[in-house]
Amino acid sequence: MAHPLEQLRDHALREVESATDEQALEAARVKYLGRSGSVSTWGEQMKTLAKEEKPIVGKLLNEVRNAVTAAIESRAAQFRSQKESVGLAKIDISLPGTPSGYSGYSGYSGYSRTAGYSRTTESRGSFHPLTQILERSIEIFRRMGFALADGPDIEDEWHCFDALNTPPEHPARNEQDTFYLPDGRLLRTHTSTVQIRTMQSAPPPIRVIAPGAAYRRDELDATHSPQFHQIEGLYVDENVSVADLKGALEFFMRELFGSGTDVQFRPHYFPFTEPSLEVYVKSKALKKGEQWIEVAGSGVVHPAVFEAVNKARGDKAYDPEKWSGYAFGLGMDRLAMILFDIPDLRLFAQNDLRFLKQFA
Ligand code: PHE
Repeated sequence: MAHPLEQLRDHALREVESATDEQALEAARVKYLGRSGSVSTWGEQMKTLAKEEKPIVGKLLNEVRNAVTAAIESRAAQFRSQKESVGLAKIDISLPGTPSGYSGYSGYSGYSRTAGYSRTTESRGSFHPLTQILERSIEIFRRMGFALADGPDIEDEWHCFDALNTPPEHPARNEQDTFYLPDGRLLRTHTSTVQIRTMQSAPPPIRVIAPGAAYRRDELDATHSPQFHQIEGLYVDENVSVADLKGALEFFMRELFGSGTDVQFRPHYFPFTEPSLEVYVKSKALKKGEQWIEVAGSGVVHPAVFEAVNKARGDKAYDPEKWSGYAFGLGMDRLAMILFDIPDLRLFAQNDLRFLKQFA
């Protein structure tokens, strides 16, 4: 027959195992291990035992106490992990995160800006003015159906120049104007490279914008920087005309600079477009309200660009007889300077909080 202590242990273990919540478990703990619990009571009774019984019962009692303690602990751990997984199940890890800062603009449709925790204005970060302009611009083009395209900052000459109808003797290709790597590659002088890459990988119609950094050998001063930021756009379809180009850019400028903005197109020259147009804006909302300010280059895609792409693709997907397109390039730094009335380009790169905080 089992020793009464063993029976006690079996009872205790069964009770612990069948405890369905933390209260029941605590009740079992008090009942068996508490100060006046059964195990303690047995400890008291040790005194009354015969000398030769004491070590045997003492050992058994220890074993029972350890077994019951361990069982209670493991049951408690089960309850804890149950609680945690219930808590975790309430978190939908597939939801997008809550971006911090950025009070000005809420165009990222995927983000919930009310969900999550709120922080004080002091501790909250904010987006760099260039990022703000970039996001705002992207959002406007998205509404017009433009998709985002991307490409490398380090490019080959073909994507940067040859494919864009820019011959080897063109001054833009000069070592004084462009950063070349020892292997002949270069830092892209514009993100038009992405337009070429997009056409190489997909047949028309296409409608993309390519935001990103571009590089030219310029001395750093208030209005020039060897690294700057662009959004270039390309739309290729049947019967695309200068009218479409003007409509799209006028819409963009008015969305960005305000509905009272005047937009003017002046003839220009780019190797990759014909005709080529420079875009100027004038807006009362701006500090320099009475002045025409140049904000973009644009034009109708030159057939030679389509031919270069066809040659690289090995097909006639961009048949200039069938397809036409417009392209444009906007300087983000310039747009930010105009919109925020920033006098010196260098401020963008200095990380001076006194400057950056003004855009929080
Ligand atoms: N790539 C030109 C630049 O960087 C801008 C441009 C793009 C002009 C597309 C016309 C068409 O200055």
